Amino acid sequence: MSKPVGYEGEQKARAQKGVDSHMAKVTIPALKKMKKEEGRKITMITAYDYTQASLAEKAGIDVILVGDSLAMTILGHEGTIALTTEEMIAHIKPVVKGAPTPHVIGDMVFGSYNESLPQAIHNASRLMKEGGCDGVKLEGGRPDVVKAIVDAGIPVQGHIGLTPQTASMLGGFKVQGKSLDAAKKLIDDAVAIEEAGAYSIVIECVPEEVGRAITEAVTIPTIGIGAGRYCDGQVLVYHDMLGMFDRFVPKFVKQYAKIGDEIVRALQQYKDEVISGDFPEERHVFGGLSKEDMDGMKD
Ligand code: KIV
Repeated sequence: MSKPVGYEGEQKARAQKGVDSHMAKVTIPALKKMKKEEGRKITMITAYDYTQASLAEKAGIDVILVGDSLAMTILGHEGTIALTTEEMIAHIKPVVKGAPTPHVIGDMVFGSYNESLPQAIHNASRLMKEGGCDGVKLEGGRPDVVKAIVDAGIPVQGHIGLTPQTASMLGGFKVQGKSLDAAKKLIDDAVAIEEAGAYSIVIECVPEEVGRAITEAVTIPTIGIGAGRYCDGQVLVYHDMLGMFDRFVPKFVKQYAKIGDEIVRALQQYKDEVISGDFPEERHVFGGLSKEDMDGMKD
């Protein structure tokens, strides 16, 4: 039986990392099956580097999004607008290395898909070819763009509701789809995005019933963030759910840990111990010089 392309390299990478080598790569058909046949919720998390991705791999997360939220969580920008395709590619690469099993999605950055369809195809191809991800995500109800990229052979995940790249046009970071008209428009957008060929849709910050209606209106998996309990899966930003980013904590975030506080505590203890001389201890230092050599050093 022929092995899938990259099989041996993938097995070797997993063996080196101590990962169960029988874990199968999460594929698009597998994600669709979770919705259609298994009724099993899809787990998605953002990650932006090798270590974060390796931890998500170990936790058995299904999908990793290298989200443009990295502009804020990693690069310290106020919003996502400034991020470039080069920066996105630089973060997709280590995530792909760290997480051979999850399905990895690269986020298309602001301005990289809105000028023309050829521009959108070009930049989506770069994320796949140079970054090595399995699919791309793009914000907004733009079925024409989705179709062009899918026709070029690139899997696309849509993203509707609150779309942070264009938040100023939506009146800020606000819950979307709160009127009947707005809710219907979101459902229409989701159906159009599915018809254009998307394999999944992220729904951000909408009333729970709107998240549910969209999920029932499409056959592809929906992944919610602030979109209620009825989506086919959930996504959270890594730094938000681990308590590492406290500039603001949206209502939809559950902090599963307070890693930020623990890091600060450890750094403070390290500082105190270096100043007091309690670190390094004898067990942290190297010996090895013979008595003669030590005596020689004194001369
Ligand atoms: O960039 C990001 O992290 C995202 C998620 C919020 C879905 O788009």
